[in-house]
Amino acid sequence: MSTRNLSEADLTDAVLARLERCEDPRFKELMTALIRHLHAFVREVGLTEAEWFEGIKFLTATGQKCDADRQEYILLSDVLGVSMLVDALNHKKPTGATESTVLGPFYVEGAPDLANGASICLSGGGEPTEVRGRVLSLDGKPIRGAVLDVWQTAANSLYSSQDPQQERYNMRGRFRSDDKGAFFFRTVKPVSYPVPTDGPVGKILNAMGRHPMRPAHIHFIVSAPGYEPVATHIFAKGDPYLDSDVVFAVKNSLVADFKPKDGGILEVNYDFALKPA
Ligand code: BEZ
Ligand code: FE
Repeated sequence: MSTRNLSEADLTDAVLARLERCEDPRFKELMTALIRHLHAFVREVGLTEAEWFEGIKFLTATGQKCDADRQEYILLSDVLGVSMLVDALNHKKPTGATESTVLGPFYVEGAPDLANGASICLSGGGEPTEVRGRVLSLDGKPIRGAVLDVWQTAANSLYSSQDPQQERYNMRGRFRSDDKGAFFFRTVKPVSYPVPTDGPVGKILNAMGRHPMRPAHIHFIVSAPGYEPVATHIFAKGDPYLDSDVVFAVKNSLVADFKPKDGGILEVNYDFALKPA
């Protein structure tokens, strides 16, 4: 098909025809669908030139906001529900397996290995909390030596990677399950917090009339040899944002009770169940 003299009616077909010599079948499938849906969007809304240019400016600003510690495109994917849709398609779990949820942009590799019972909290403030649980197989057997990579915000509602006042690995650590599959660490109760709003994603959230809040949670990546790793959170029961999480990541099975125990300390118990690899 020639690329000459195209009209609104045959432009999409002409672009698709240019994929004729694309050698990678999966890449061809992805590009074909992307072009079809993009053109359909432009037609459906009758996109004006001014709107098209606003879109270009938005995508440019999104890229310009990214650096080693800031991933505005992941944030965009998260707030548009794309991250959770990809998660749902790729992590269909059997009954009983811990459900996954969004990884988010604040994971930092290389958190220190800590002994069970250690605290991840190097900063002040917050409600002291003990987190206990087990890592189990689907038939309820303990998994020994599973690694739990954990991270959360400090009491000021910022991750260490967002806050130059915090040590690099504040509120981060890696724990290992013991012979009974058990793990235990100390922290402070997580708080609900806004995703970063000082960039283009914050602007479109505002323009859509949406709040930027995430319900309080602790992040985990739980892994063990022979099992599929799971990236997930434990959410705090009773949080006011559980039903309006800005990134659509809450699942009932991940909500846990942070209960008071003696001496004004909170305690939360959560068992993880891993699916075989
Ligand atoms: C987070 O929980 O760290 C997070 C997830 C998605 C977007 C922003 C933050
Ligand atoms: Fe988070």
